[in-house]
Amino acid sequence: MDIQNLIKNMTIEEKAAQMTQVALNVLTSAFEGDFTGPAQDSNISDHAWESLGSILGTKTAESVIATQKEHLERDVNHIPMMFMTDVIHGFQTIYPIPLGMGATWEPELMKECCAMAAKEAAISGINVVFSPMIDLARDARWGRVMETTGEDPYLNSLYAKAQVEGYQGDLKNKYNVAACIKHFAAYGAAESGRDYNAVEMSEHTLREFFLPSYKAAVDSGVEMVMSSFNTINGVPSSGNKWLLDDVLRKEWEFDGVIISDWRAFVEMIIHGFAEDEKDVAEKALNATSDIEMMSYTYAHHLEELVSEGKISEDQIDRAVERILRLKDKLGLFDNPYRATSTEEEKTVIHCAEHRKLAEKAAVKASVLLKNDNVLPFDNVKSIAVIGPFADCENIGSWRCNGKDEEAVTTLMGIKEHFDGEIYYAAGCSGDLNAKTDKALIDEAAKIAEKADAVLLCVGEKGKMSGEAKSRAYIGLSDAQNELIRSVVTANKRTAVCLFTGRPLALEYIIDDIPALFTPWQPGTEGGYAIAKLVLGKENFSGKLTMSFPRQTGQCPIYYNQLNTGRPFVDDVNYMGYVSMYIDCFGTPLYYFGYGLSYTDFEISNVRIDKNRISENDKITVSADVKNIGTRFGETVVQMYIHDVTASIARPVKELKGFEKVGLEAGEKKTVVFSINRDTLAFYNASCERKAECGKFEVYVSDSAKTGDPIEFVME
Ligand code: GLC
Repeated sequence: MDIQNLIKNMTIEEKAAQMTQVALNVLTSAFEGDFTGPAQDSNISDHAWESLGSILGTKTAESVIATQKEHLERDVNHIPMMFMTDVIHGFQTIYPIPLGMGATWEPELMKECCAMAAKEAAISGINVVFSPMIDLARDARWGRVMETTGEDPYLNSLYAKAQVEGYQGDLKNKYNVAACIKHFAAYGAAESGRDYNAVEMSEHTLREFFLPSYKAAVDSGVEMVMSSFNTINGVPSSGNKWLLDDVLRKEWEFDGVIISDWRAFVEMIIHGFAEDEKDVAEKALNATSDIEMMSYTYAHHLEELVSEGKISEDQIDRAVERILRLKDKLGLFDNPYRATSTEEEKTVIHCAEHRKLAEKAAVKASVLLKNDNVLPFDNVKSIAVIGPFADCENIGSWRCNGKDEEAVTTLMGIKEHFDGEIYYAAGCSGDLNAKTDKALIDEAAKIAEKADAVLLCVGEKGKMSGEAKSRAYIGLSDAQNELIRSVVTANKRTAVCLFTGRPLALEYIIDDIPALFTPWQPGTEGGYAIAKLVLGKENFSGKLTMSFPRQTGQCPIYYNQLNTGRPFVDDVNYMGYVSMYIDCFGTPLYYFGYGLSYTDFEISNVRIDKNRISENDKITVSADVKNIGTRFGETVVQMYIHDVTASIARPVKELKGFEKVGLEAGEKKTVVFSINRDTLAFYNASCERKAECGKFEVYVSDSAKTGDPIEFVME
């Protein structure tokens, strides 16, 4: 397509419309002349509506085909629209939330799931997915931690790459879609875990922890970037020229499309960063934002700004060129419908192959946190399945087209895979601040007593995490805590299944729980995965990628923290004048990298091939891992580095390598990692990324909590 020629024939009004995105109901209302509902405050001409660039939120092939057809008949430039939507962990076949997928420590599995989601989305007419969300998350009070792969920049970068490749692959394949990473940048550092809140941080912290996953995605060829709602040091990302133009475009050489978040442009006025809509449009375009989502400042003011000489038409042309180039890459000018097919919707979406993959992912994402000889239930004749979430969907909040009626509940899963006696009781309400209902609890305790074992399903509903779902208290409700205590009293062989979109603070209940695992929000096949794990037909292999606090008050808490001058180093007793709380240990309840199995592993003989290296040399780190238990299992051998002394204080540990290994009982394997200058590099106070000579410690272990250091020096 001759994009330059196309642009040359477009008016500024048509260009501004190309840079505007609305939900389908807004466009429909506009063409129906109804400006009281979704299309209110749009105030743009019919001609602008006819020239609109893209739509968000469609869900069916039928709606896309009809919309695109009507549009092409109206648009004088015959430029196909792009269709975009939020596919965070599946389109209709829903796999575990990304915080669960992160716990698989299998980026390749994540990539496979994204490719499956892309195919379902493409068949339903989607060209771009607002995914992956690759914000680094440290504060479990923030509801959107469920969309992330956790607190580590190295692991997040691997997952960012895997997801972009999974969604995009080769865009000439009509079953692939363009990915749009979000939310650029540092949205996960919203102060006090309160969604949309301000972000304050040094540039070197931003670059060290919060930017690497985005850089990895850009280096993987991601086509689109969504800027974030939040300010960084007082500047809203939507209008942040340093962030979007200087860093993303010039330093990282990203020449794809930048889109705002929902009405985030006009929020610049509410932030107090822009005077009015005209000021918004000028600031956003100067920051090189290309598409305005769900507001109209470009449509209202670009022409005026050009005539006043405040912006140039060339700036507009560059934005339009990036948008049209993406449409060309997607092949829309040749085939505006790509893979859209009402026929294939019936055969491909939620097909058996996709469901099988989602179930496999749900098994691998699940993390076993505690097991005092309770699980697996492989020698029982009856099971009581109890709890407010035992017989309900646990798809998760960003469920896209995921349907409740397609979800396999835990009770359904147990019925499918267990042929003994099954009893069921809800035990309490799943509402956020549910109060104890004695009758419900007594009923649950009675069936618990009768059964050989109990599977107790508590935690959070899917809709209790996600966007605008920050929580000031992340413990369980009184009703759930009371239910747990009553059921465990009635039957010690109780395993708690903790559905959740975030780490929860369990200090006040954990001693009453004999066995605990989390499937997170496991998606449409979760019930089958949970049943197979609980019955021992599958084994746990998940490892946390976000620390579990003891109490809410510890948030944000993360493993790669600084040591402070007064570190709190153990959980035995209070030590007075050290960095801790007088009412809570300073360490997490469960560490990054932690997760149990039905078998046991031993990591031994950790060794390095040299303990002095020059800057251009490398060290080889080896360790033996052995399955010392009684059945096959998988574990993740993790390699951490500690830069003991540097020009700025460095984290106590940083993940720099891992290998997931599957071993039969008695089997042993040697895993090998290498360390070179780049492994040791970091952003110093002047934001130069480089390694500094000096002493280092290397750890090889099965979580951020364990491991003995081996020292080496880089000269
Ligand atoms: C929302 C979210 C963003 C999503 C967008 C479109 O507000 O912040 O993640 O992609 O709107 O739905």
